[in-house]
Amino acid sequence: MTVNNKAETPKLVDRFGRSVDYVRISVTDRCDFRCVYCMSEQMKFLPREQVLSLEEIEQVARAFVELGVTKIRLTGGEPLVRRGIDQLLHKLGRLQGLNELVLTTNGSQLTKLSEEMKAAGVKRINVSLDSLREERFNRITRTGKLNQVLAGIDEAIRVGFERIKLNAVIMKGRNDDEVLDLVNFARQKGIDISFIEEMPLGNIEHERQETYCSSDEVRALIEPHYALTSASDRTAGPSKYYRMADSDCRIGFISPHSHNFCHECNRVRVTVEGRLLLCLGNEHSMDLMSVLRHHPGDLDRLKQTIIDAMDLKPEKHEFDLEAEPQIIRFMNMTGG
Ligand code: GTP
Ligand code: 5AD
Ligand code: SF4
Repeated sequence: MTVNNKAETPKLVDRFGRSVDYVRISVTDRCDFRCVYCMSEQMKFLPREQVLSLEEIEQVARAFVELGVTKIRLTGGEPLVRRGIDQLLHKLGRLQGLNELVLTTNGSQLTKLSEEMKAAGVKRINVSLDSLREERFNRITRTGKLNQVLAGIDEAIRVGFERIKLNAVIMKGRNDDEVLDLVNFARQKGIDISFIEEMPLGNIEHERQETYCSSDEVRALIEPHYALTSASDRTAGPSKYYRMADSDCRIGFISPHSHNFCHECNRVRVTVEGRLLLCLGNEHSMDLMSVLRHHPGDLDRLKQTIIDAMDLKPEKHEFDLEAEPQIIRFMNMTGG
């Protein structure tokens, strides 16, 4: 009789039977933009010592991959403003067992960094784009320059990233009149686009229930121009995708308010402070930074902490636009 001594690929499974094979790691809370739905105008960033070092991020990523995680998305703040991000990408790109290294960005650094990212093995990128009008883009991002982002998107296409996806947070009275223009832009560039319902994370300057625009409303703005058929390719993510008859582009809707997707959740997050966050819409978490700092190099301890944390994953998020935000943390701590 032969005995298979090879340990089976370990799996992270929570109390509700959901397998976690996807981690989103926020590599910095800093950002060169100040988007109105994400940050307050007077945002204060964390001192360096409270933020995971690049080496610590690499260890966290390694621990997750050894626990069966196959997809890592780097987020921010803006991940590409973190000094040394290129080296980190190269290191993560070499992790055995990691099938997808992906990144979500505001696009401001893509003219500079697209080539390097591609060389490091980044598979796909998501780029935020809420408006195609210069002055409005500047108003929503407070400091962003539209031309820089558009040039960045072109550069990302040029270096050959596949399935680039735009993210647009749609707000009533602010950019809901641009839904069709954004769809046409995505079609023209041959890329995908997701429309996102704004989530109540952190206290910001506008009243979110006044600007709330549901995915169904966004869809109703598109359908008179393009018939949408439900795409079968689900990504185990919150996006529900649709296709148009005459284009390869997919249109996604991320609807944390109107269509709950928590039963399919396959992801956890690591905040910029090294907090393993089990759900974007809840505070259940485990402190990985203290493990990293009190037991440096002890990968087994780190892995056991992650395994133990799975029991804390809540069943679902509850977002209430009428109430004060229950989650005080801003989106730039988790990268969404
Ligand atoms: P995939 O990796 O393909 O699933 O990409 P994604 O579209 O989920 O990621 P991206 O970073 O582009 O985020 C787009 C929007 O989805 C952001 O507003 C995120 O906050 C939101 N989002 C991503 N995951 C979750 C989740 O688990 N719960 C909720 N409520 N929102 C999420
Ligand atoms: N609600 C929904 N999406 C948000 N994002 C940032 N803040 C919010 C919010 N409050 C989006 C950004 C980016 C993605 C990572 O998260 O537009 O595309
Ligand atoms: Fe920066 Fe992204 Fe937040 Fe905008 S949404 S301020 S680009 S982290």
